[in-house]
Amino acid sequence: MFVVVGVTGGIAAYKTVQLVRLLVKDGHDVHVIPTDDALRFVGLPTWEAISRNPVTTSVHDDVARVRHVALGQQADLVVVAPATANTIAKMAAGLADDLLGTTLLATQAPVVIAPAMHTEMWQHPATQANVDTLMSRGVHMIGPEAGELTGGDSGPGRMTEPERIHETVARELARGSGEAAGQQWLVTAGGTREPIDPVRFIGNRSSGRQGVEVALAAARRGAEVTLIAANVSPEVLAQVAGDPRIRVVEIMSTDDLERAASAHAPSVDVVVMAAAVADYRMPDVAHEKITKESAEGTLRLELVETTDILRGLVASRVEGQTIVGFAAETPGEGETLVGRAIAKRRRKGADLLAANEVGWRKGFEQDENHLVVIDAADAVVAEVQGTKRDTAEALVATICARR
Ligand SMILES: Cc1cc2nc3c(=O)[nH]c(=O)nc-3n(C[C@H](O)[C@H](O)[C@H](O)COP(=O)(O)O)c2cc1C
Repeated sequence: MFVVVGVTGGIAAYKTVQLVRLLVKDGHDVHVIPTDDALRFVGLPTWEAISRNPVTTSVHDDVARVRHVALGQQADLVVVAPATANTIAKMAAGLADDLLGTTLLATQAPVVIAPAMHTEMWQHPATQANVDTLMSRGVHMIGPEAGELTGGDSGPGRMTEPERIHETVARELARGSGEAAGQQWLVTAGGTREPIDPVRFIGNRSSGRQGVEVALAAARRGAEVTLIAANVSPEVLAQVAGDPRIRVVEIMSTDDLERAASAHAPSVDVVVMAAAVADYRMPDVAHEKITKESAEGTLRLELVETTDILRGLVASRVEGQTIVGFAAETPGEGETLVGRAIAKRRRKGADLLAANEVGWRKGFEQDENHLVVIDAADAVVAEVQGTKRDTAEALVATICARR
């Protein structure tokens, strides 16, 4: 998951190195945003090396990617540790004069703060009023603890140990608070492969990116997701690695997919069949590699239809379940994507059908996609052109709105 760690100017910044290390170890994509003052305590190279991501403090760096809001928009969680009295005051006032400030205003993700300061600063009515304001806005606070402080004095103000902050962050990430909280989703992604012989298969060009983005969008809304991944590359699957809300089941063929989908479907609230499933397979897989000699010039493969998994799931749906199909279409002369999508939804009986137009340079292996979503009344209920993350967001929002 995408975790932003804000670091501000207190001695405890050195302990946050351990927090970042633990989050990276969990498999999260961690982006550290130090304040300028924080860099006087722990330097930029340390944060870059430990987080394995570029680190900047200013809104004027990497402007082309609109970094001042992009990090906050992408975040699944923002944790500020240590949180100084100054930064807490800035958060309460909504100030945005550095990258951490703009990120905190741009994010809709849960925010966790771990205050650290001397007891007098912590107990000052200004700090207490600022903390009350943040908590009334839903910010989670951990600590501060009572104990020995930097100047040799002791009292409340010590930052909670990084291991405990890590536990809180992990719990918040797992909880989810969105519209799909408490729901179980089953999402399929990738493309099935039908073996011909021990070394060859009939496959398709689906990368699994769209399905993985659907799983992530559902998880961001609080769903617990089982992601059935058909031949999805490790680079694409890396996006969900370490996400406590997404469980990955890797499979190869249409038969495997049917078995896995029918095992999980009875216990889920939503099924999204985004995988490209083979329509045909070999009736019998050759036990030995087919050679040129054995084929004698021409190789004829006879294929039989595979089971229609989507139709099967619709036929055995449990009460209250929403079933969403996907269609990758190449509309011919006089046909439209919407027309093809309506026909397919009727054939399958799904509640919603998400269709995208594909071609040699369209849809597959690209980040951009154009998706239309059809409902049971043949109406277009969503149409999005954008990244696969954008289309997944729109689809998942549509599903949630209809439940
Ligand atoms: C050695 C040293 C330690 C400090 N420790 C803290 C601290 O633990 N908590 C705090 O609120 N401020 C502390 N400060 C003061 C902050 O660094 C100062 O208020 C700064 O403006 C915070 O900026 P920032 O919130 O943008 O990081 C410390 C300053 C120094 C020089």
